[in-house]
Amino acid sequence: MKTVMNIAIDGPAGAGKSTIAKRIAKEMSYIYVDTGAMYRAMAIYLLRCGITTEMAGEEKGSIAKEFVDAVSKKCKDAKITIEYRNGEQIVLLDGENVNSLLRTEEVSQMASISSTVKAVREKLVELQQELAKTTSVVMDGRDICTVVLPDAQVKVYLTASVEERARRRCNEYKEKGIEADQKQIEAEIAERDHRDMTRENSPLRQAEDAVLVDSTNMTIDEVVDAIMQLARAQE
Ligand code: DC
Repeated sequence: MKTVMNIAIDGPAGAGKSTIAKRIAKEMSYIYVDTGAMYRAMAIYLLRCGITTEMAGEEKGSIAKEFVDAVSKKCKDAKITIEYRNGEQIVLLDGENVNSLLRTEEVSQMASISSTVKAVREKLVELQQELAKTTSVVMDGRDICTVVLPDAQVKVYLTASVEERARRRCNEYKEKGIEADQKQIEAEIAERDHRDMTRENSPLRQAEDAVLVDSTNMTIDEVVDAIMQLARAQE
């Protein structure tokens, strides 16, 4: 039986996890699993069910019970599956390819809020663990080292300063010809960091045995090399 090797990468929004994870998956011939895309697909499903971020009533400091109840009930019916086509992860929502809909600001906010709900996490963690059981994967997210794959052979916490992450995101937008305000992006990233790190269920944190990689002053190649060295040491 071939041995399954798993590489887990956690970190805050915009730290470059997906770029790095994709590169490593390619070099190792592993499957790249983008767990954020699953939370985003769930967010699309919930929005389509008529649940909105306003219903969470976050300005009062906590998430409204009505929102949590509605999300907990509805999320059970979401039919989210993952397929790989030419090495690319395709997220299917009830059979529909929703990849092109995942990256809007509305979906980002809904994913960040709805991923605080326990029932959402339970459902998606099961799907993620199932994928990693039989296949060697590079999986990125917020709770991969701490909850989803605590026995992964390589565990990394990839981060960068808020300013640097906002600068990178801003450049990505500009390359696509989209106007972007770096200060506003910085504020949005800080808001998501706060929510991801302070939520009750599986908050974002560095696992005790994860290696910290701070990419603020590193190039993509340098980060890939650092993680590849950790992976090769386990082969
Ligand atoms: O990585 P991303 O920005 O695509 O993730 C979208 C949201 O999903 C993020 O704000 C938090 C949530 N998420 C999570 O709670 N756990 C994960 N493993 C991955 C993402």
